[in-house]
Amino acid sequence: MSEGLLQAIRYERGLLNILDQLRLPHESVYVPIKNTQDGFVAIKDMVVRGAPAIAIVAVLSLAIELDEAITKNSAVVESRDSVEQYVKEKLDYLVQSRPTAVNLSDSARKLSALVTDTNKSISGIDLANQVIAAAEKMMVDDVDDNKAIGAFGLEYLSSALDVKPSSDSPISVLTICNTGSLATAGYGTALGIVRSLFGAKVLKKCYACETRPYNQGSRLTAYELVHDNIPATLITDNMAASLLRSHPEIKAIIVGADRVARNGDTANKIGTYQLSVLAKHHGVKFMVAAPTTSIDLMTPSGDDIIIEERPHLELVRASGPVVENGKSNKDKIATVHLAAPGIEVWNPAFDVAPKDLIDAIITERGIALKDDSGNFHLENFKID
Ligand code: MRU
Repeated sequence: MSEGLLQAIRYERGLLNILDQLRLPHESVYVPIKNTQDGFVAIKDMVVRGAPAIAIVAVLSLAIELDEAITKNSAVVESRDSVEQYVKEKLDYLVQSRPTAVNLSDSARKLSALVTDTNKSISGIDLANQVIAAAEKMMVDDVDDNKAIGAFGLEYLSSALDVKPSSDSPISVLTICNTGSLATAGYGTALGIVRSLFGAKVLKKCYACETRPYNQGSRLTAYELVHDNIPATLITDNMAASLLRSHPEIKAIIVGADRVARNGDTANKIGTYQLSVLAKHHGVKFMVAAPTTSIDLMTPSGDDIIIEERPHLELVRASGPVVENGKSNKDKIATVHLAAPGIEVWNPAFDVAPKDLIDAIITERGIALKDDSGNFHLENFKID
């Protein structure tokens, strides 16, 4: 099935299309994002999801609007100050789309600083062009950062487990949610490390948690693993403990991050916390893979992270193609109700793995480990 790197986001100046992740894995359909309102809705409705991808779609949706303003020579680009005001208003709006992942507010902070700090004598069109270029660079940088995370993840596991590339004692790993090409501009973070392990021939198998309630594991990660021909097995989330007990070749659990607090506590997809507890019990490495855009030095610990709660219907309903004669008919999509009508539901989208249960945080700038007192020093990694 391998046809090059999967692309969640297709962008060229003035044109932004995103892969509709609600329709995967049954259909691969790109939808246009024509303005920041489209970007906001796509993020909120999870047409695009994954912390880095959310940030990139948001800033590129703004780039699309600015490009149109330049083309039409509209009032938005009349002056440097009109662009500054416009960009800040749009960023304030976009950051409200989803609260937990910090990458979007990190990107917004950088673009906001750019428009504030730019020389007062610059024209509106020149400033708009600078914002567009900065947004475009964020997309390019993300792929490079993910490849660096993949290389550092391979380095960490190779030395922690004493496995060599092309080793004849390959290891298996477990992951949750989707942290791959679909959650980023390309390659992925935790799944990027899986790709690097596979490329170095040290991966026996990647186990993927289904990731209820939204099934990012069974729909998206499974799709990526099959696409790349990486040996993989899907499990339901409640099989993880049994899996670790019965499969000692699983040496690491590798997860992504929506927000890493200053002390290293990490918010990620609901279910991550229980995996961190299991990792400790079973003596396997628990690794967080996160670009430094996911580190939030302003948030002291996981207790301060806002955890998004999603609509209860996302938990009690599921949609997919109807099965006819043993085959999926993607032209017939049905929604089914799974739970007893009337039951109350709690549906947090994320939870927090405490720093004490995390062995390493793998960033594009290197591997963060704890000191002898058990503290990460993430300020050494977050330098902008
Ligand atoms: O609700 P989602 O699908 O946006 O949640 C995504 C995750 O939790 C990912 O693990 C995280 O954003 C890292 S993606 C590289």
